[in-house]
Amino acid sequence: MSQIVIVNGSPRKNGNCVALTGAMKAKLEAAGNDVTVFNINELENYKACQACMACKKSGKCVRKDDMTPVIDAVKEADGIIVATPTYFGHATAQYRAFEDRMYCCIGANFALQIPEGKKCGVIVTCGGGVDGAVAMSKQIEGVMGGFFKMNLLGTYVFSEAAAGKPAKDDADAIAAAEKIAEAF
Ligand SMILES: Cc1cc2nc3c(=O)[nH]c(=O)nc-3n(C[C@H](O)[C@H](O)[C@H](O)COP(=O)(O)O)c2cc1C
Repeated sequence: MSQIVIVNGSPRKNGNCVALTGAMKAKLEAAGNDVTVFNINELENYKACQACMACKKSGKCVRKDDMTPVIDAVKEADGIIVATPTYFGHATAQYRAFEDRMYCCIGANFALQIPEGKKCGVIVTCGGGVDGAVAMSKQIEGVMGGFFKMNLLGTYVFSEAAAGKPAKDDADAIAAAEKIAEAF
């Protein structure tokens, strides 16, 4: 059994990220994995990284708030699935806050504070053309694969415009997300 963490940067409770990661969660649990979901939008008390650089001495974040258990869970997990909509070509503010707080996993001299090779799946959603979303997904892959040396198992970009329906009603989209889950 593996510990898998899903980090959802969408504020929507029933949106596309939730539909896709929900299908992945079901697949992972059916395969005997333990899955924990963090909806960043539901955290009540957190700040983005304050760039205090304390983590560059201690390898730990000195901030203790609602983001702390999210980062701790990612540190402990065997695998992570990250999901975010595209907002003006970027990940959401919620996702970006999570991503920057992961900076504490890089210590002095850029030494990684987490084991290399954590499994990682990436889900990006968008409303229009996929170009911006694909570019953003590559950026996320660069952070997770490049900085955090995760093992990128797959990325799926969902476009509402291309699908013509929400992800929850799109069997092909659900199947594409499930395929990534099956790789864990
Ligand atoms: C503030 C805001 C900005 C957005 N910017 C873009 C964008 O730049 N490109 C795009 O294709 N869709 C954009 N969208 C649409 C969302 O990315 C799209 O609805 C997405 O599927 C939502 O995902 P979710 O249901 O998982 O929350 C934007 C939506 C909002 C609310």
